[in-house]
Amino acid sequence: MSLPSRRASEHRRGSGPSSRRASIDPSRLIPMDRVHQVPGSDDFNVVFIGAGNIMFGSDEGPWNHSFRFEHKLGPRLKVVALIDPAIERATSVLQKKCETFVKSAYQDTRVFKTFEDFVRNMHPRDRPRAIIVGSPPMFRGSTQPGRNIEMQILQHFPGVAMFIEKPIATGPEGEIEEAFKISKMIEDSKTVCSVGYMLRYLKAVQMMKKIIDENQLTVMSTIARYACAYESISKPDWWDKSKSAGPIIEQGTHFCDLSRYFGGEVEISSVQAHSLEWDENAGHLSKININESTIAPENRIPRVTAATWKYESGAVGSFTHVVALQGKNYSCEFEVYADGYSLKLVNPYVQPVLYIRKPGDDNETTIRFGDDDPFFSEVSNLIDIIEDIEEDPEAATILSSYEDAVRTYEFTWAIRKATEKCREDRVKKVAEAAKVT
Ligand SMILES: NC(=O)c1ccc[n+]([C@@H]2O[C@H](COP(=O)([O-])OP(=O)(O)OC[C@H]3O[C@@H](n4cnc5c(N)ncnc54)[C@H](O)[C@@H]3O)[C@@H](O)[C@H]2O)c1
Repeated sequence: MSLPSRRASEHRRGSGPSSRRASIDPSRLIPMDRVHQVPGSDDFNVVFIGAGNIMFGSDEGPWNHSFRFEHKLGPRLKVVALIDPAIERATSVLQKKCETFVKSAYQDTRVFKTFEDFVRNMHPRDRPRAIIVGSPPMFRGSTQPGRNIEMQILQHFPGVAMFIEKPIATGPEGEIEEAFKISKMIEDSKTVCSVGYMLRYLKAVQMMKKIIDENQLTVMSTIARYACAYESISKPDWWDKSKSAGPIIEQGTHFCDLSRYFGGEVEISSVQAHSLEWDENAGHLSKININESTIAPENRIPRVTAATWKYESGAVGSFTHVVALQGKNYSCEFEVYADGYSLKLVNPYVQPVLYIRKPGDDNETTIRFGDDDPFFSEVSNLIDIIEDIEEDPEAATILSSYEDAVRTYEFTWAIRKATEKCREDRVKKVAEAAKVT
C-alpha cells in the first residue's frame, strides 16, 4: 500500500511504548510450560542483577527480560540469584513468579544485596552461564569500585556471557575513557557480551539494512525524531540530569544508536545542538507527574534537543528529542536516505511500520510488522551464541557489542555537551545585553 491517506490513518494510531494495541507484547509469547523445542536439556543458570522494570516488566512498556528468558529456555531456566540492594522488591517479584507455572525457574533463586555477597556465597552448582545486568546505569560502565560491575564479572566469572542494559553508563563525561577501557577488557577476554539496543533486532530495521546492502547504497542522511509522552514518565530520576544524565543519554540513546547503525561512525567534533530549556517560556509543561522543584535548577532536563552532525562517511545526521506529549503514547520516527531511496521507520516500539520509496516509483510501499518482538530476539540470539547453536541458516548474531554501545554513549554525551554550550553562550549574551541597556 502506498496511498498517502493510508499513511495518515496509520499516524493516528497509538504509537508509544505503553500502547495497549502493542504488537511487541510479551503476552503473545508462548508460555514457558508450552515451549517445546528446547535445544539442550541441561539447566541453564542465569543471574539477574536488578529486580526492576526492565527485568520483571511494568506498565510503562513491553520490556520484561525475565519473561523472554522463560520463553526462550522453558523449564531449563534456573535463575540462581537475583541481586538488588532493594531486597523487598527482589523478594516480592520472586514471590509473584513462584505463584505461577514458571515457579521451577525461581523457586531456588537466592536474593543478594550485592554482587560480592553472591560471589562469597555461591554454591559451585549455581555457577551462571549468563549474567544479565539491568541495574541503573549509574552503577556500571566505570572502573571505579561500586560502579564497575562488568570488571567484577570478568574477574570472578571469566568466560561467562554478559548482557548489559543500555545506556552502558551515566557517569560524568570524563569517565567515557573508562568505558572504552572496559570495552577493551571484554574484547581481550573474548567474553560474549550483548548490550540492550534492542531496536537493532527489529525485523523492520533488518529489512532496511538488507535493502541498503543488496542495492549497495551509501547512506546520505539519517533523520531521527523521538517525542516521548512525558505525562507517563513518573520516575523522578528521569527528570534529573545528575541521576539519569538527561533524556538524550538515557532515552534518546536508542535513536542515536540506530543513527550510528545506519550512518556509521560520527565525527564527534562535528556535533552541534540546540535545546529548549525548562526555564524558557516555550519550555513550560503543565502535566509533569513529579515535583520538579525538588530538582536543582541546573539538573532539570531540556524539553527539546535538536542535534545535527557529520558522519565519517560525509553523510549528515540529525536527531530531535521532544518532551512535549501527554498521555501514554510516544511518537517516534527514523528515516534513512540514499540515492533514489527513502526508508522510514515509524512506531518502532509498538507496531513497527516501514515506508519504502525506491527508484522508479514516487509512491511509498508500506510494510507493517505486526508480530515482532526485538526484546525476545536479542535474548534469543544471546542464548544461541552462548550455546553455540548454528543450525539456523541465519545464524544468531549480537548486533550491539559493548564497544559499539560505548560509541553511542560517547555520541549522546557530545549532543548533551553541545546543547549546554549553546545555552551557556545564550545566557552570557542575554546578560551582556542587559548590562548595555
Ligand atoms: N531497552 C529498553 O527499552 C529499556 C527499558 C527500560 C529500562 N531499560 C534500562 O534498564 C536499566 C534499569 O532500568 P529499570 O527501568 O529496570 O529501573 P528500575 O528503577 O525499575 O530498577 C532498577 C533496579 O536496580 C536496583 N539497583 C540499584 N542499584 C543496584 C546495584 N548496584 N546492583 C543491582 N541492582 C541495583 C534498584 O533497587 C531497582 O530495583 C536502565 O539502564 C534502563 O535504561 C531499558
